[in-house]
Amino acid sequence: MKKKFAFLISLGMAVLAAAGCGGSSSETLVMATNAEFPPYEYYDDATQEIVGIDVEIAQAIADKLGRELKIEDMAFDSIVTAVSTGKADIGVAGMTIDADRLEFVDFSDPYTTAAQVIIVKEDSEIAGPDDLVGKSIGVQLGTTGDIFADDIEDAAVERFNKGFEAIQALSQDKIDAVIIDREPAKVFVSENEGLKILDEEYTLEDYAIAVKKGNTELLDEINEALQELKDSGKLQEIIDKYITAE
Ligand code: ARG
Repeated sequence: MKKKFAFLISLGMAVLAAAGCGGSSSETLVMATNAEFPPYEYYDDATQEIVGIDVEIAQAIADKLGRELKIEDMAFDSIVTAVSTGKADIGVAGMTIDADRLEFVDFSDPYTTAAQVIIVKEDSEIAGPDDLVGKSIGVQLGTTGDIFADDIEDAAVERFNKGFEAIQALSQDKIDAVIIDREPAKVFVSENEGLKILDEEYTLEDYAIAVKKGNTELLDEINEALQELKDSGKLQEIIDKYITAE
């Protein structure tokens, strides 16, 4: 009798698992991200939960779709694959709309604009992009910063798994500069002494949400939700909570 009961429980659990509880299903919205990118996604020191602008946007979208948000933290360069293979429903990671990525995923309408900037030591002779020729440049692997650094003449590109590791290498004089997105750059520079951000921005970019190629149903739902968040002022509210205007 006991045995039968245990069997029924495990059967019930198997059914639940098959129905997709805990995985990607119509009830959950699985978000692939790389939580090394403040203020968009990072671990809150106190709670050890992943928080940030992207998390709140994804949560607001999930709420509108009536689905439960589930966050999967992974290497940045795994996100596009996770989305294109259906392991995750959406990629939300301060991700720039980019032609190479568009071969594997579709992007929502942009939810914010961003820029790549250059970080150097305070006493560096590097004053702008032109001075990067022949220098060693740190980037986060697989990011647009990586792509730009790759194009700089004679530059030695050092690729790190985390943007923060590139900053550490710069602080320790192991590299000459870091190319990274502006808002994370501001956070990292404020937390590390002796660094500065050069005024000249490298490129302007649009951040958007990635979905599996051809999943127009989800894409339309996301765009609709995003539009509502823009119209109601909620999107700006989320951004203002994490980014204080200069
Ligand atoms: N915007 C850049 C890109 O799309 C960097 C994004 C990095 N995001 C992250 N969560 N680590 O490549």
